[in-house]
Formats: sequence, structure tokens, C-alpha cells
Amino acid sequence: MLILGIESSCDETAASVVKDCREIRSSVISTQIEEHKKYGGVVPEIASRRHCENILGVVRQALDEAQVTLADLDGIAVTYAPGLIGALLVGVSFAKALAMSCGKPLIPVHHIAGHIATNYLTFPELEPPYLCLVASGGHSHIIEVLSYTKFRVVGRTRDDAAGECFDKCARAMGFPYPGGVHVDNAAQSGDSTAFKLPHPAVAGNEYDFSFSGLKTSVINLLHNAEQKGLEVNKNDLSASLQRTISEILTNKTILAAEALGYKKVALAGGVSANSGVRAALSAACKERGFDFYMPEKKLCGDNGAMIACQGSYNFLAGITADESLNAIATLSMEDI
Ligand code: KG4
Ligand code: ZN
Repeated sequence: MLILGIESSCDETAASVVKDCREIRSSVISTQIEEHKKYGGVVPEIASRRHCENILGVVRQALDEAQVTLADLDGIAVTYAPGLIGALLVGVSFAKALAMSCGKPLIPVHHIAGHIATNYLTFPELEPPYLCLVASGGHSHIIEVLSYTKFRVVGRTRDDAAGECFDKCARAMGFPYPGGVHVDNAAQSGDSTAFKLPHPAVAGNEYDFSFSGLKTSVINLLHNAEQKGLEVNKNDLSASLQRTISEILTNKTILAAEALGYKKVALAGGVSANSGVRAALSAACKERGFDFYMPEKKLCGDNGAMIACQGSYNFLAGITADESLNAIATLSMEDI
């Protein structure tokens, strides 16, 4: 079975061909980071325009590198939600037209389900059920992966996502967009105990996250220092921020795993590339004898292979779309 996956929900135009659910035959990613960097964040209209320019070339290259033609495909999978609406619409319209022109099934994929699927590409033995922490620029979720296509959201962020917190704090420290990776790099030579940052309390669901208080406290700390003419050690602040975010994500995920009886825990999403988060969750799982899974680094950020992989499982479960498929900016995983 050969599935083409197309991703365009944010600032990466990506396409990939995956064989038999888990074998990556090609993976092409065209990133727009350099262009959005000038503005300190993703400019939605620019993102849509670049997707429009790049998508055909990216898909063609993915087919060429996999040495397949459209006729060889069993289906065309595309991210239809959630994400920037104009960006999603480019991928959805393109995938629809392609599916129609070659008479292949169109397969809708939820972006977060795609991130979760990166662990199937990394670990051939991994099968549901398990608990997955998905932390990215737009989402922070604790999810019960009940089957390849059924999910239950156990916890979610009430405000900012973990990646957003990394990026906004990084920006305040003067790092370029997207700042998460710069915080990670700076943290390597910093003292993670130098700054005491808050672990925000969340009333109600104990598995929900809140990162806006943490973000505000880092920004205030920097502003106060600036007003007083004091220098803040960015390595120390990065290390302290990274440790705090890692602790928050790890503590809630372990709490949920223990309460719900999961001994298999996975990590996914752009923030899964963070060395502190990887180390903290992996150590906490090891301590408890849980099996722990995290994607290889090159699959952490947005890519087409994760959409092709999840698309393969959707296809096997009979999840396809007709020509009325639309892009949706906000959609819970439980509503798919
Ligand atoms: O999954 P993703 O590529 O896009 C969304 O679906 O949002 O995630 C991007 C996020 C950004 O916030 C980026 O700063 C963050 O992942 N990120 C990191 C690291 N690498 C990427 N955050 C912290 N440390 C990293 N090494
Ligand atoms: Zn993503």
C-alpha cells in the first residue's frame, strides 16, 4: 500500500510517500522559516502564498524520490485541520484536485493525529493503546490513543501551547523565530536552578495545562531587569525555562498515565525535539518501568510522512473524504 501525504497547516509545505503504513519512501519539506523570521512569527497570508507556489514542486519531488507515479498510489492523504485556514486550504484544494485527476481516494488527516503517528514511523513495534503527550507550537495535549484512529483528549492547554511559551520567551530574550530551538541550545550551557519560575496552577481538570503565566513571568523578569539596567544571563534563563516546561509537561503526563493505568507513554509534536522534555519524560517513565517512545528528531516538526502514515491507518479504517472536504482551523481530535 502506497499513500501520499500532504501537509500545509502552518509554515512547512511537505509531502511524502509511505509504504505499508510505516516505511518512508520519500519525505520532502519546504520550510518558510527564513521568510517569517523577519516578522518574528508566521504571517498567515505569506504562508498561504508560499504553499501555493511550492506545493506542486514538493509533491512532484516526493513522488520522484519514492520512484512512484500517481497511478501507483492507493490514496492521497492531506491535513485538513487544525491550523491556519488559508494554509490548510491550499493543501486541501490541491489534494482534492489531485485525487480527482487520478481517481484515487482522498484521505483526511487531523494534524495532531499525524504528530502522534511519527512514533509508528520510529518504532515498528508500537501499537495502541497508549498515552501520548503532544506538545507543539499550537497544541499541548495529553491524549489516550485508543486505536490507530480513535482518540480521547485527557488534558489540553487552557491558553498558550508549550511551543508558544518557548517561542514568546525566546523572542523576549532576543532569539530569532522560531525560538524554541535557540532556548534549547542556550540551555545546554546554563544553570537550570538559577531562576525560580512558576508552575501555574490550573483549577478543574488536573491534566490541563496553562503556560501563559509562565510566559508572562519570564517577560516581566526581562523587562524589570532592563529597566534596572541589569544583565540577565540568557543561558541560565533558558535552562530554567526549559526545566520548568519539561517538569510541567512530564508531571501531568505521568499523573494521567498512573491514574488511567497506562504503562506505555509516547511524546510527539514540535516540542518533542526539545532535549529537556525528551530527557525528563524519558527518565520519569524509566523510573516507573513504563515503556517510552519519542520520534526521531527529524520527524518532530511538521512533515509529510506523519500525514502519509496516519493517512494509511485512516484508509485501512475506511476513513476517506468526498469532494465536499473542507479545511477547518479549529477541530478537537474527539470530533474527527
Ligand atoms: O509541530 P510543530 O512543527 O508545528 C505545530 O504544529 O505547531 O511545532 C513547532 C513548535 C515551535 O513552537 C518550535 O519552537 C517548537 O516546536 N520547537 C522546539 C524545539 N524544536 C521545535 N521547542 C523547544 N525546543 C526545541 N528543540
Ligand atoms: Zn505540527
